[in-house]
Amino acid sequence: MTVRHFLDLSDAGGDALAAMIGDAIDRKEARKGQPKGLVDADAPLAGRTLAMIFEKNSTRTRVSFDMAMRQLGGNAMVMQAGTMQLGRGESVADTARVLSRMVDAIMIRTDDHSKIEELAHHATVPVINGLTDRSHPCQIVADLLTLVEHGKALPGLEVAWFGDGNNVLHSFLEAAALLKFNVRYAVPDGYEPEPEFVRFAEAGGVKVTLTRSAEEAAEGADVLVTDTWVSMGQPEAAGKLAAMRPYQVNEALMTFANPDALFLHCLPAHVGDEVSEGVFESAQSVVWDEAENRIHAQKSVLRWAFGQL
Ligand code: CP
Ligand code: NVA
Repeated sequence: MTVRHFLDLSDAGGDALAAMIGDAIDRKEARKGQPKGLVDADAPLAGRTLAMIFEKNSTRTRVSFDMAMRQLGGNAMVMQAGTMQLGRGESVADTARVLSRMVDAIMIRTDDHSKIEELAHHATVPVINGLTDRSHPCQIVADLLTLVEHGKALPGLEVAWFGDGNNVLHSFLEAAALLKFNVRYAVPDGYEPEPEFVRFAEAGGVKVTLTRSAEEAAEGADVLVTDTWVSMGQPEAAGKLAAMRPYQVNEALMTFANPDALFLHCLPAHVGDEVSEGVFESAQSVVWDEAENRIHAQKSVLRWAFGQL
């Protein structure tokens, strides 16, 4: 079998993505109430080790992959890129070849998507995207799991995005094409997502709508999503925060959405900027389930990468 890399959701495809969500729901249910560090009864990744490389900060991705490996019966190691030889000039290609001889899979969070592509090109074990400047596929598996868990059927769902057209929106657009939901995005001029992700979604036959009006995007939406206005590694461009201000998800905006609409945020949040405290702390906000679901989603991504799904 060819090595299964998970650089973007399209590497897996719609059927596999649906299988990951189903697997995550089943496994989460099966271990409900048990201590978080207990190994799942079937220990499907016993004997496997994941190496994690971080070029940027992380709380959720780091802890959820570590706990996911423990629960699946395997091990994980965390490395800050700056403390590796990678941080003082060893090539990505050589790093890939060395780690492939020592561990069973590699997860990387990098500031430049081309590095993960190079890593995957030279690795002989699965490489998983733990966030790049371009995409955040693992986050979206957790987000979709959260929506399904909260009773939302994905096909035909109206998902509304507010603020910066960033890496998380890119992965949402990919997921839309794969699982057939519609995306409206309200972003200021100059902060649109990369056109190739919009084209991918449209080619998948779903509706993708750009608007400059937050209210228009919120109108009849089933899910409202936002993220930090300044992603890691981005310069805080002059005027950006002012341009983002009209796109805050707040109580007034929520009145335009469906009454049972859910609020998602990948976290960390800047409450008072991209989301008001009232919405962040409301019953419609499912951000803590979303954060927990990173563990359950990661387990399914790992099982897929190892050919178990
Ligand atoms: N959402 C997310 O990826 O969080 P971390 O940056 O804490 O990993
Ligand atoms: N868009 C954010 C997501 C953080 C999890 C960033 O890239 O910093």
